[in-house]
Amino acid sequence: MAEYVKVIAASALSPGQACEVQAGGRTLALVNVEGTFHAVDNRCVHRGGPLGQGFVDGFQLGCPWHNWNYDVRTGEMTGNPEFRVACYPVKVEEGQVFVNSEPVAR
Ligand code: FES
Repeated sequence: MAEYVKVIAASALSPGQACEVQAGGRTLALVNVEGTFHAVDNRCVHRGGPLGQGFVDGFQLGCPWHNWNYDVRTGEMTGNPEFRVACYPVKVEEGQVFVNSEPVAR
């Protein structure tokens, strides 16, 4: 069972922003939605675009390559939930963001 890994200071990622982080050998996209952090696979299921470099609009994370959008709460592609990226547990402690590299079971 994977453990939580400290990935970034919470203050380093503003609301409405995304970034790429490393946890347990994976590259993940970390998103701040109004102060709540979410983590999903960084690799877009379309052609592998880096979601952590994408655009945040509410709970939507848009791929920077061809703008497929995903809901960061579920990992589902907007309008076509058959496509999805994995979601990962996130917690914040003492101003630090921790991510577990074991995906949330769906
Ligand atoms: S690679 Fe993400 S939308 Fe095409």
